[in-house]
Amino acid sequence: MKLVFATQNKNKVNEIRAILGDNFELLTLSEINCNEEVPETQDTIEGNASQKSFYIYEKYNVNCFADDTGLEIDHLGGAPGVYSARYSGEPQDYQRNIDKVLTNMQDATNRKAQFKTVISLIINGHETLFEGIIEGEITTGRQGTNGFGYDPIFRPRGYEQTFGEMDAKIKNLISHRAIATQKLINYLLSLQQ
Ligand code: IMP
Repeated sequence: MKLVFATQNKNKVNEIRAILGDNFELLTLSEINCNEEVPETQDTIEGNASQKSFYIYEKYNVNCFADDTGLEIDHLGGAPGVYSARYSGEPQDYQRNIDKVLTNMQDATNRKAQFKTVISLIINGHETLFEGIIEGEITTGRQGTNGFGYDPIFRPRGYEQTFGEMDAKIKNLISHRAIATQKLINYLLSLQQ
């Protein structure tokens, strides 16, 4: 089966390609000659994942999947959530986003937060959603420089280190994205049987 991963990130594609083996031919957007910006204008993480995958499915007539991620902070009523990438405005700036979170969390006693990834898979027009959530808390300042985005201020529950301090190998085993991706892979592998 041909399956398009609606991302331009080759590393992500190669990782999943290696796990799925020969029964799936996994392609990037550029490999189907899609070099346009894929719209993500919905107000939920699920909505954006669905919008991206249906856009590719309908326009290019291919089975595909897309993912979307957000950081949901209790004290901020679930913000920045679906707006995580541009929380402090355009253009996307990780450092400014972190500053805004830290400022808005200055007086917070409840520092609980979670990262959520949703993957929308469409096969022959039928959608299946896969969710990955990791709970943790927002630190009072930056810790570590690994990773990207909000990693330096998010410490997963049960760990001493923030994602920013953690070895990438560990983050990629336990993260929201890893959980959602593993569910997707298990589902695809079950189709092969
Ligand atoms: P995307 O939907 O994967 O592009 O994620 C949206 C935004 O959420 C990114 O621009 C980052 O700010 C943030 N984000 C997503 N995944 C992570 C992560 O694993 N660590 C830290 N921040 C993340």
